[in-house]
Amino acid sequence: MNKDWKSCKLPIGTVAVGNEFYLRDNIVEEIWDELQKGNSVLLAAPRRVGKTSIMRYMEENPIDNYKIFFQNIQSITSADKFYERVYMMLLNCLSKTKKVKKWFENFVKSKSIIEIRKDGIVFEDKPTDFLKETNALLVEINGNAEMENIVLLLDELPEVLFNINEKDAVSILKTLRHWRQQPEMSKKVKFVLAGSIGIHYVVEKIETRNSDLNDLAKVVFEPLSDNEAHSYIDWATKGATITYSSKLKKHLLNKIQYFVPYFINLLIDEIDRQAKKANNPKITTQSIDAAFDTVVKNNDYFNDWKKRLQNYMPPMDFDFVNEILKHTAHKEYISVQEIYDKAVKYEKTADYMEFINELEKDGYIVEFENKYLFISPFLSAFWKRNNPIYNT
Ligand SMILES: Nc1ncnc2c1ncn2[C@@H]1O[C@H](COP(=O)(O)OP(=O)(O)O)[C@@H](O)[C@H]1O
Ligand SMILES: [Mg+2]
Repeated sequence: MNKDWKSCKLPIGTVAVGNEFYLRDNIVEEIWDELQKGNSVLLAAPRRVGKTSIMRYMEENPIDNYKIFFQNIQSITSADKFYERVYMMLLNCLSKTKKVKKWFENFVKSKSIIEIRKDGIVFEDKPTDFLKETNALLVEINGNAEMENIVLLLDELPEVLFNINEKDAVSILKTLRHWRQQPEMSKKVKFVLAGSIGIHYVVEKIETRNSDLNDLAKVVFEPLSDNEAHSYIDWATKGATITYSSKLKKHLLNKIQYFVPYFINLLIDEIDRQAKKANNPKITTQSIDAAFDTVVKNNDYFNDWKKRLQNYMPPMDFDFVNEILKHTAHKEYISVQEIYDKAVKYEKTADYMEFINELEKDGYIVEFENKYLFISPFLSAFWKRNNPIYNT
């Protein structure tokens, strides 16, 4: 083993923070722009595209006149708990504002609050109705001329809506909308909402319409452009033992095709691992190909994409969608006619294109000249390995 070997330190699956975070400033700017325009924001992006990493970065690097707080709310089990959490997030932001210090001290006293922690509030006498408390607090915040702006970053909201009972889920969606739309509550407090399952699945399940989300500014995470992807590799390999010529970079990106950091990280990391093992810092196009083949075989990296469909779709829907993806993996693409033929077989002719649109929105497939193909060769290869037999 080579002690002096310098690996590329890249996160694989965990959030990218600190010097493992590659700043995608156009996305960060777009989110701040929307917030400054007075909008709340929905991060409309599939799993593993970098939503949580961006939210964490924003929390660490707020802009002037904003207090911002991030929470992964996945574990919340009821609407009440949700309102309690939002109340706690608001208090955490308020405890950081200097401009309204006196007001806040009085507020804390009046509510018999003993301690404000990042994971909860300690009360002498805990309120019983956090929705009421939060509503009142929002009105106070917005009515205070000295107050700074507040942004609450809520990660994994769709999971919560999916897992709790329908009545509570509807209540949360309606309340969030109310908080965004009532002028006396919404001027100074904005939300950024994100989650790793498409929120549209959930909203459709509980309400049959998406109108409760229509006012949110949607920020789409485009993949890196060709230029950005080249800079990304430079950033990822800076100071590392392995170096990439422009020919190698081109070859690597050619394998990846769809330039989201996660897919690039997987490949760079594997190349590094294999080169280190062989104690050979000189990589070639063949070593890139070999690493690609290894990554593809690691189901752990891609299982999520399948599990997510399985967990959030009724079995009949999953079977239909899986059939489409199987076909796409084995035949490289699927035509609209072929999709329709399968819809006939699965009795989905009434709404089959909705499934296709969701697969597209959720980052599985893209349309190209009236055909659909996997966005990433990794996903395609995974689906094929996962379903090795395909009979039309
Ligand atoms: N800005 C970034 N810099 C470096 N790696 C990133 C970045 N964004 C995403 N990644 C990669 O993607 C993975 C998933 O990121 P994450 O923020 O958890 O995505 P999401 O919340 O959309 O599921 C990370 O483990 C990392 O490999
Ligand atoms: Mg996330």
